[in-house]
Amino acid sequence: MQDKILDLLKRSQGYLSGEEISSRLKISRQGLWKYIQDLRDAGYDIAAVPHLGYQLVSSPDRLFPFEIKHNLNTKFIGRSISYFDTVSSTMDLAIGMGIKGCVEGAIVIAEGQSRGRGRFKREWFSPKHKGIYLSLILRPQIAPNAAPILTLLTAVSICEAIKEVSGMDARIKWPNDILIHNKKLAGILTEISAETDITHFVVIGVGLNVNNDKKALIAGATSLAEQKKEKVSRIELLQEILRRIESNYLGLGKDSAAAILDKWRKSNITLGRRVRVVSEKNTREGQALDIDTDGALLIRNDSGLTEKVTAGDIAHCRDHHA
Ligand code: BTN
Repeated sequence: MQDKILDLLKRSQGYLSGEEISSRLKISRQGLWKYIQDLRDAGYDIAAVPHLGYQLVSSPDRLFPFEIKHNLNTKFIGRSISYFDTVSSTMDLAIGMGIKGCVEGAIVIAEGQSRGRGRFKREWFSPKHKGIYLSLILRPQIAPNAAPILTLLTAVSICEAIKEVSGMDARIKWPNDILIHNKKLAGILTEISAETDITHFVVIGVGLNVNNDKKALIAGATSLAEQKKEKVSRIELLQEILRRIESNYLGLGKDSAAAILDKWRKSNITLGRRVRVVSEKNTREGQALDIDTDGALLIRNDSGLTEKVTAGDIAHCRDHHA
């Protein structure tokens, strides 16, 4: 009911009478008053003036499900939302939901995480109300070894959303770090539940520094607010990320991965550079030539051989070899 009341208040220019709201939503005036109090407790500033009615003055900076759903206009991504104030990691909850058979497109959102995790078991610093901490469950009909395309797709979608909402140009460092001015803004963690050649579900985790203060960021990291020098709406950014992921994901079915790979090539800062690849097994260096259809990085080593890198962390080297 609160979402319906908010929806009416958001649509109305000026005050909306209690009588009008009550009759439209078929609730009593007393019931309405109770809901208004609940909304105020949640941080909404709602003015009430006798004979005029109610007016929404301001909304809190929270990723409440009804705020996310308001004008989201997606078909399935973000239609089912599990929202938490603080969790250990949205990944663990999303994996549990995937196992229980949740709908495709369901998302888990938290205002903060106590044990946010990144790739290679690194910690993902997740201060409350500052960033976007999202896990999305997809059920793609693709072989498990094709799943990395979803990570590239998410990276592309995040860059598109950042451009749309903040006007900033973010770039992708292979495979899935989102950077602005060479500092890390967002990361993507993809976890998959699969058998030999069947993908049960994929959980895509996105951590994005939005309104983190410069001083509170770890070395090498940045936030949109630091770059833009003003706060950015987490709700608008999250909604746009969900919309972009959906449209790119639906596009996958139409023209396979070609469009995503093209977009990824345009937004990346790795191709053409000399890179050092550090994996658990070894360290290699070479020129980053291209990405393969499965998202692997193709590098030419110093003996002139082309190698395929499927996993690992890369560093961009300073010296450029032609
Ligand atoms: C990386 O760059 O290493 C990936 C970071 C992914 C962080 C996100 S935050 C939401 C989701 N929950 C987690 O615990 N991790 C991912």
